Order: sequence, then C-alpha cells, then structure tokens
Amino acid sequence: MAAVNPLLSTSGLSLNFGGLKAVAAVDFALEAGEVFAIIGPNGAGKSSLVNLITGRYQPSAGQVVFEGQDITKLAEYQRVRRGLAYSFQITSIFPGMSLRENVALAAEAHHVGKGGNAGKGANAGKGANAATQTLAVLNKVGLAGRADEMAGALSYGHQRWLEIAMGLALAPKLFIMDEPTQGLSDHEVEKFCDLVKMIRRDTSILLIEHNMDVVMNLADRILVMELGKKLALGSPREIKANLDVQRAYLGSSDVKP
Ligand SMILES: Nc1ncnc2c1ncn2[C@@H]1O[C@H](COP(=O)(O)OP(=O)(O)OP(=O)(O)O)[C@@H](O)[C@H]1O
Ligand SMILES: [Mg+2]
Repeated sequence: MAAVNPLLSTSGLSLNFGGLKAVAAVDFALEAGEVFAIIGPNGAGKSSLVNLITGRYQPSAGQVVFEGQDITKLAEYQRVRRGLAYSFQITSIFPGMSLRENVALAAEAHHVGKGGNAGKGANAGKGANAATQTLAVLNKVGLAGRADEMAGALSYGHQRWLEIAMGLALAPKLFIMDEPTQGLSDHEVEKFCDLVKMIRRDTSILLIEHNMDVVMNLADRILVMELGKKLALGSPREIKANLDVQRAYLGSSDVKP
C-alpha cells in the first residue's frame, strides 16, 4: 500500500561507509497519522537510515522527501524547523538544568530562525505563552509537578519522558524515536506505549524498536531491514507471517517476531 501524499518518503536512499553498504537503496513512504516502525537485526542499518532522514548524515545516493519537498540537502536544524523531531539517539538532556529549562531550550531551538527574533525583545510578550507551553508538554509526560527540579536528578525512565517532552516542545509533524524503550522496566515500557498512543493523536511517529511486543502493539506498518536493505514492509500481521522475516531473525538473540 503506497501512500498517495506521504508525509515522508525516501527513494533509492543509500549510505556507504567505505565498502560497507549500511543503507542500500531503501524506498518507503510514511503517511500522516501513522505510527511506522523500523525493525531488523543489529547492524541492519536502522539508525543509519534514520540519520539520513534527520540530516545527520548525507546519503551516498537517493532522496528524502518531506511534505512533498526534497529535503535531502537540508541541514539538521532546517529539518527540525520543518517539523522533524528526533529523540533517543543519545541522552540529550542537560542534567544541570531544570526540567522547565530543558524543555524551554528545545522549544527555542525550534523558534530560532522562524521569525528571526527569538530571544529578542519582540518575543517578550510570548514569554508567558512559552511558559504555558512548556508546562503543557511536561504535563503530557507526567512531569509538570517536577518542572523546577534538576534534570540530572531524575531516574533513567523519567529522563526518557523528559526527552519526549523536549521533542514535543518542537511541535513536530514527525517524531522519530530510536530505541526509546531501551533500558526501561516493563512498567515503564507500558507507560511508554500509553504515551505514544496519546502523542499520535497530534504527531506521526517513526519508531525504531527492538521490543516486538511494543512494535506489534503500536505500529500501523513495519519496515523490516536486513543488511542495509528493505526486507519486508507491511502490517504487523503481515510481518509476523512473513517467512523472509522469520528467517532473518533466526539465530538473532535480540528479537523474535
Ligand atoms: N559511523 C560509522 N562508520 C562505519 N560504519 C558504521 C557507522 N555507523 C554504522 N556503521 C555500520 O553500518 C551498519 C549499520 O549500522 P546501524 O547502526 O545503522 O544499524 P542498526 O540497525 O541501527 O543496528 P542496532 O540495532 O544495533 O542499533 C553496521 O554494519 C555498522 O557497523
Ligand atoms: Mg541502531
């Protein structure tokens, strides 16, 4: 099922590291409103693919199209401004700052350059509004009551919720999450799934995930990668039944569909 007007699409997207084809001519399209998952064994090229989408890496070949526009040559920050948010590649919070400051900084990164006046006098009247927005996103992840605590004092799981809040502060059209449940307890994984179900009402989501229960629970469609290539693409039901996918995971210790 190809999207007619996809939010995001890639065509022939490739990335070589020397002789290694980390991403090999990958085509896919994500529709607005979708939770789209990318799975595959370790080293399949999932993070590399995402890094091409966010602009961290430049492709060896191929295109990335967002809202009908070719963004392949745009810098990371330009893509953020267009509505691409990325989370979890690294723990990206500022531990010595309050939760409120962390979220405000993320939001500011979004606004800088939009009108060219962020942080200047012209923005003074927007301060109250920004503060309300900051609390609103902290509230979404259940951390509004701790807005003035230092981010570094949060538990690992709560730091992850803060990262989600920072992503939401960007008001993204597409929220990309690379292994968001890594290191979370079972209970926190459940909470994460609830969060995604709430976030998806406003935002499309691209999820790289090793936890098959999470993928099968949340994803509308799944792209399976193996050795840089697209191995399969389909609904959770289709992917579970796909023999190529079952073969790709044989002997892999991390995931079993
Ligand atoms: N900066 C780099 N330089 C050289 N090779 C790299 C680099 N980053 C990734 N690779 C290689 O590219 C391939 C794809 O790696 P990538 O990290 O995209 O896989 P992944 O699917 O995200 O794996 P994982 O599930 O372990 O996160 C691997 O063979 C990896 O060793
Ligand atoms: Mg990865």
